[in-house]
Amino acid sequence: MSKHHVSTTINGEPVEFLCETEQTLLDALRDELGLTGSKEGCSSGDCGACSVIVDGRLICSCLMLAVEAEGRTIETIEGLARGEALHPLQQKFLEAAALQCGFCTPGLLVAAKALLDRHPNPTETEARYWLAGNLCRCTGYDKVIRAVVDAAVELRGE
Ligand code: FES
Ligand code: FES
Repeated sequence: MSKHHVSTTINGEPVEFLCETEQTLLDALRDELGLTGSKEGCSSGDCGACSVIVDGRLICSCLMLAVEAEGRTIETIEGLARGEALHPLQQKFLEAAALQCGFCTPGLLVAAKALLDRHPNPTETEARYWLAGNLCRCTGYDKVIRAVVDAAVELRGE
């Protein structure tokens, strides 16, 4: 069967790719575009490792078809830093030792960015609820939450 041609915007750049009908956005990002920061943890919308932002909404890219990316604006973990300059969330994750394994961290960072885009001043409780869909299988969440709240302070310029 012929492939679908998709035109989209990823991390501010116009992007075109070909995909199969049944291919997920996660698979297209990783396999067609070489954007391997988004991870496949569960393939069922349960772990958040594949989190991306589509038209301003946080989604699990394992649950979205790649063809649905047509005309959308997508942000992935690869777009968080500006060149060598880390995003404040990345910097605070480093400083707070919230940087966990390479599997859960990209999704946590993307989800946290979606939170701060929407709520620049979240309470700790709000941050915990927002990130409840991003699972870590081995450590904990306290340092992550602290890093997110600290990054929010920095982004607000306080
Ligand atoms: S891989 Fe998408 S939510 Fe787990
Ligand atoms: S799953 Fe990443 S540190 Fe636990």
